[in-house]
Amino acid sequence: MDIEKLISEMTLEEKASLLSGADFWHTKAVERLGIPATMVSDGPHGLRKQDEAADHLGINDSIKAVCFPAACATAASFDRDLLRKVGEAVGDACQHENLCVILGPAVNIKRSPLCGRNFEYFSEDPLLAGELATALISGVQSRNVGTSIKHFAGNNQEHRRMSSDSVIDERTLREIYLPAFEKAVKEVQPWTVMCSYNRLNGEYASQNHWLLTELLRDEWGFDGYVMSDWGAVSDRVKGVAAGMDLEMPGSGGSNDARIVEAVKSGELKMSDVDRSVRRILRIVDRFETNRKPDTPWDMEAQHELAGKLAAECMVLLKNEDDILPLKKTEKLAVIGRFAGQPRYQGGGSSHINSFKVTSLLEALEGEAEFTYAQGYDVEGEEPDEALIEEAVEAASKADKAIIIAGLPDAFESEGYDRTHMRMPRCQNELILRVSRANPNTVVVLYNGSPVQMPWIHDVKGVIEGYLGGQAVGAATKMVLFGEVNPCGRLPESFPLQLEDNPSFLSYGGEGNTAVYTEGIFVGYRYYDKKKMEVLFPFGYGLSYTSFSYSNLLLSAENITDMDELSVSVDVTNTGKLPGKEVVQLYVGAPAGDIFRPVRELRAFEKVYLEPGETKTVTMKLGKRAFAYWNTKIHDWFVMSGDYSIQIGRSSRDIALCRGVLVKGTAEEPKEPVTPDSIFLDLEKDSLAMELLEPILAKVRESLGAGDEDGGEDAAVSDEMAEAMRRYMPLRSMISFGAETTYNAIKTLADEINKLRKS
Ligand code: BGC
Repeated sequence: MDIEKLISEMTLEEKASLLSGADFWHTKAVERLGIPATMVSDGPHGLRKQDEAADHLGINDSIKAVCFPAACATAASFDRDLLRKVGEAVGDACQHENLCVILGPAVNIKRSPLCGRNFEYFSEDPLLAGELATALISGVQSRNVGTSIKHFAGNNQEHRRMSSDSVIDERTLREIYLPAFEKAVKEVQPWTVMCSYNRLNGEYASQNHWLLTELLRDEWGFDGYVMSDWGAVSDRVKGVAAGMDLEMPGSGGSNDARIVEAVKSGELKMSDVDRSVRRILRIVDRFETNRKPDTPWDMEAQHELAGKLAAECMVLLKNEDDILPLKKTEKLAVIGRFAGQPRYQGGGSSHINSFKVTSLLEALEGEAEFTYAQGYDVEGEEPDEALIEEAVEAASKADKAIIIAGLPDAFESEGYDRTHMRMPRCQNELILRVSRANPNTVVVLYNGSPVQMPWIHDVKGVIEGYLGGQAVGAATKMVLFGEVNPCGRLPESFPLQLEDNPSFLSYGGEGNTAVYTEGIFVGYRYYDKKKMEVLFPFGYGLSYTSFSYSNLLLSAENITDMDELSVSVDVTNTGKLPGKEVVQLYVGAPAGDIFRPVRELRAFEKVYLEPGETKTVTMKLGKRAFAYWNTKIHDWFVMSGDYSIQIGRSSRDIALCRGVLVKGTAEEPKEPVTPDSIFLDLEKDSLAMELLEPILAKVRESLGAGDEDGGEDAAVSDEMAEAMRRYMPLRSMISFGAETTYNAIKTLADEINKLRKS
């Protein structure tokens, strides 16, 4: 496709029309010029390709497809290869179905357990979200199919999702809410980016020039096109100028006409329109010239893959007395409606029309001796006494009771937020009653976001299965029986109660204004700093084997922020079964003027080990691992000092730790000296102190006379006098015997500033 030639041949009307969808899912064709339409489709954990009645909320049926585990689950794998495999499988399906772009991954940070779409998002941690999204994107795009990383940006709640203004300070944006997008864009160039519905710091994402052009393109180098979330466009003309290329779905031509008018009136530059046309055509061309329509889509094989992958995502939260893995000889009571009809995905635009679903009951057929009891209903919360009694009866006759519980669809979904973290009362009551009837009770949870577990001390085993995709039953069986050794780790903290969450006081916002008051202290960054007890910490997860760590080595003890630090550690499987461990590397910053979390995840590796085997895991840390976003220089900045390199089993369980002295090479610009500068700050500057010395000598002299020093019961202790001195502004010297004037001090301050520059 000769894109420049096509642009030169297109009329303004044709160009404007290309900048919005033909319908819900297609870009427009320009037949006269041979420009084909392309189709986009929801995902990202499978295809939601709608052939006929189209909608963006998952209401109407889409074609039969394969539902892989949702992002809440795949995040728990901490496994880049796994995400890449999902991506490749989905990419193949897209080629088979002639889909140019799959709409995902969604990398918004889990600010609160309440967000209705948490099940579609990866983590509370930006590094984990970014690494996994990057792997997924590279998998899809290896099949020459595009992705649309979403929802850009600051879209962390469903409440008022199309109007809310996320007010996020600069540092918090850079450190928490943007890095997952940044990493993916810089490393694997998603073909498209989907802007979010919300406003960000006062401006809709769909017309936010800073976000879509200055940051995304000028700073990060994004070279694909930006499309709107479905219906996110407010002022289309402003959007084109801001860099929002494709409006989805179309506006029935009305916004196209506005673009034409705006160009004619001079309100919008033709070059801005051309720019968006060019970006869209480049992606159309990229897809069309490498179409692989013969790509097979073996759904059965993908179903099996989905099951294997789901098993690798499950997190073993509790395993008292080694109640798990189960033995084939044990008589089981399998309880809970989700055992027969699993909840394996969330509601809304990511909803897949699965071609088949494997429940735990189906997976167990012929493989174990069990009785089944439904235990609860998914409609309503009231405990059903008859169902509970039936379950208790089954449990009391079994060796072990396995309860499959979790959140029903209505409890979490796209479109609205939760108001609490509870599981339905009927399920909590069931778990309690069954655990009393059989002390060997295990709970498996199917849910997309953290729940409270009032029964945690009453049961011996808990598996967090998240929303494991259509083969979740097979995966659950594999983990329960130890065919797969559980190796998932929590990609988010589970607080004891909702009120503990750092965003609790401001989540959802007031009216249309949602101020992110907790700043960078999201998830474990907050709980760890506050030393708060949590139900389960970030990064936590057990295994049927055990691991030990030794030999933490750093490539240097002393580096600058331009160097790369190589960190290696030996991990040994000290148990009897093969298994996978997630080695988590956290970095803790030295104390200083800037608020920093106790530790932040800066690298991780998943490693497979046979019993008795030891492997050395090596991870690299660059400048960003030590840096924070400095709002004075508007850049990443490394404070010089002693950083701690921590190897953890979770953010709360640090196995090994070593210090490294890092020298920051950038200079923070000094605040200009004024008469209001205080000594605490002035003392950091030897030049300033030197020039101020004559005045200070006078002050000392004058204060020294008559000041005999207090002794023990003096009103002013030495500490207090020292504190008073440090917090005192320069101008105060005139009142303490400096024998000078305000103007003279001002002149001196100006002189210091001048000398600093020279
Ligand atoms: C969702 C997007 C989705 C789009 C298309 C919107 O409501 O926010 O994530 O891709 O619909 O279905």
